[in-house]
Amino acid sequence: MTKYKKYQDYVIKDGIFIGDFEQMYQDFLDPWEQTEREKFASEKAVCINIIKSLSCKNIIELGCGFGQLTNRINQICPNVLGVDISKTAIAKASKRYPHCKFEVSIFPHLDLLRKIKPDCIVMAEITWYVLDQLDEFLFFLKKEFPNTYLIHTLMTYKSGEQKYGANKFTNLREIKEYFGMNYLESGEIERLEYNGGKRTYFVGRFK
Ligand SMILES: C[S@@+](CC[C@H](N)C(=O)[O-])C[C@H]1O[C@@H](n2cnc3c(N)ncnc32)[C@H](O)[C@@H]1O
Repeated sequence: MTKYKKYQDYVIKDGIFIGDFEQMYQDFLDPWEQTEREKFASEKAVCINIIKSLSCKNIIELGCGFGQLTNRINQICPNVLGVDISKTAIAKASKRYPHCKFEVSIFPHLDLLRKIKPDCIVMAEITWYVLDQLDEFLFFLKKEFPNTYLIHTLMTYKSGEQKYGANKFTNLREIKEYFGMNYLESGEIERLEYNGGKRTYFVGRFK
């Protein structure tokens, strides 16, 4: 018997942040259909293309889940670390991709980032879950890592549908305004199954 019926309810329920990621990963085998669906997500292919074009050498992926994207990055940049708050997710990622580096770490990961000094940070579909720490993270990046690229992807929802986080941003324009970076590229992907939602992406840095 699981704590909730749907994996989504462990995360945000009725517009309220729950954030029980570890229990969710223990109770559900493939939340967000990371294994089958995410490997075909177009913005993830865009991330890989951007990393290649920037020749990044030292990358960290925040909120890597089962490590699918970390593994793809590893094929073009062996110096990549995937981190996630859930030890179950990290244990599965390490088992699936034993040649990649993974560790448990909690956003905003400031000490870890100071230690690693990445030239590129990847945040794929994690931002809705770290809104309360986002300002601290952005302040830190601006001050200590202005040259580091941030590659960011985030699902946005049909106008009026979103409850949680709508006070911060609801679409790509507002996301970019909030992050306040200089952007090399950004875009949106629409897909029938997103029901009017969009997968947004950008690459930027503070310099
Ligand atoms: C929607 S999944 C995205 C997984 C993967 N990046 C992808 O795109 O397929 C969000 C991930 O963020 C992780 N996460 C949520 N809050 C976190 C935090 N405070 N610190 C680190 N990871 C977190 C979750 O455990 C989950 O694996």
